[in-house]
Amino acid sequence: MEFISLCCFLISSLIFSIFVLNKILKLLSFGNVKLPLPPGTMGWPYIGETFQLYSQNPNTFFASKIKKYGSIFKTHVLGCNCVMISSPEAAKLVLVTKSDLFKPTFPASKERMLGKQAIFFHQGDYHSKLRKLVLRSFMPESIKNIVPQIESLAVKSLESWEGQLITTFQEMKTYAFNVALLSIFGKDEVLYREDLKECYYSLEKGYNSMPINFPGTLFHKAMKARKELSKILAKILSLRRQMKMNHTDLLGSFMEDSEGLTDEQIADNIIGVIFAARDTTASVLTWIVKYLAENPSVLQAVTEEQEELKKNKEENGLNWADTKKMPITTRVIQETLRAASILSFTFREAVEDVEFNGYLIPKGWKVLPLFRNIHHSPDNFTDPEKFDPSRFEVAPKPNTFMPFGSGIHSCPGNELAKLEILVLVHHLTTKYRWSMMGPQNGIQYAPFALPQNGLPITLSLKR
Ligand code: HEM
Repeated sequence: MEFISLCCFLISSLIFSIFVLNKILKLLSFGNVKLPLPPGTMGWPYIGETFQLYSQNPNTFFASKIKKYGSIFKTHVLGCNCVMISSPEAAKLVLVTKSDLFKPTFPASKERMLGKQAIFFHQGDYHSKLRKLVLRSFMPESIKNIVPQIESLAVKSLESWEGQLITTFQEMKTYAFNVALLSIFGKDEVLYREDLKECYYSLEKGYNSMPINFPGTLFHKAMKARKELSKILAKILSLRRQMKMNHTDLLGSFMEDSEGLTDEQIADNIIGVIFAARDTTASVLTWIVKYLAENPSVLQAVTEEQEELKKNKEENGLNWADTKKMPITTRVIQETLRAASILSFTFREAVEDVEFNGYLIPKGWKVLPLFRNIHHSPDNFTDPEKFDPSRFEVAPKPNTFMPFGSGIHSCPGNELAKLEILVLVHHLTTKYRWSMMGPQNGIQYAPFALPQNGLPITLSLKR
């Protein structure tokens, strides 16, 4: 009996000591004082400041907050408590140095559509494994082999636009979609292109819809298309297994036995990569077409660079080495990524109470590094509203230029994106001229920043 009481006493003392130690550690880590929340306002109950954010250009909202409260401020939007950050150092802390304390976060409806097992939603071992596989397929060594096929897609796209009034963004989406399929399925891509396209286009219509899963709603149709996509992918997997061939594309990488991924995990990540690759690259290409048209001296410099390259080539067709001889065009891409900042910000969530630059970010709060504000701050870029590719003749200051994010979730497809842009710009500038139609000053957020109405243009062959 006495022994049992002694045990009870020891166990409760141990639990009490752990509790006290935990409290002391917390107090010590927050400097023994209850830290304040960052400055800012939370708006109306429930609604917060969502209306202020979405009733105007979001950048006006961010800029007025930064002016009032500085580079870290709190707000409440879309039903979430948020801390927004716009200093390069703070962005690095969230995305790189303390990335284990800030996990990626997305609305549940996005997870359901893309698939819960997709790379974006994960941290830790599973994320590292997927990242290794994706990086392996998109590193220069792997994608340099598909330059001729990318070029053929670019040439065919441009030929089909010739003499037409086109919506640049719509057409660039098709091009970026085809390049994404090529990088995922290799040469088999053409076999599945139409079926996958049909389902993927129905799925994307539901991305920004209300998550109401009743027959007839956009969300319901998108979920149906999602199931259909999984079926097509299951068919492709089974065909590849029967053929027992080694493939060096992304699907081949995912299917390696040693990786032990389930079919569901593979499907979620294929759909995820298409999602990450298509609208992003298409938006950037659309902005490049606009900026080149608006800046004739830049267009001339790019055209001369590309024509020179074409002239000096003995055989027809571009190769990987050629794409490394395009410094002016490369700077145009960098400046477009900065000026357009198609991804204005990203989302993270604090996994525990975090002390951050003297403030408390409570567990569960969202943290948004504001890429666009970092790219448009005069502290980081002189005359930031001016489109000036020559600014990239000198490397930007550390952490001030992050169009592809930073840290463990940064974009593994950035080399492929730059490659497909360079290839298309080569053929666009050496063979065609184009004119923009309709109003040219508006920006849409859908959700990526985009010229108004997707930039209608007419394109014709140079004489
Ligand atoms: C110019 C075009 C592109 C831009 C501007 C872009 C931008 C980004 C950014 C900013 C992130 C990080 C998001 C975050 O930290 O929350 C990201 C992640 C990602 N991107 Fe891209 N991207 C582009 C093209 C592509 C392409 C072509 C692919 C694939 C072929 C791709 C695949 C991915 C994937 C899989 C992730 C998630 C990585 C992870 O969570 O570890 N992206 N992208």
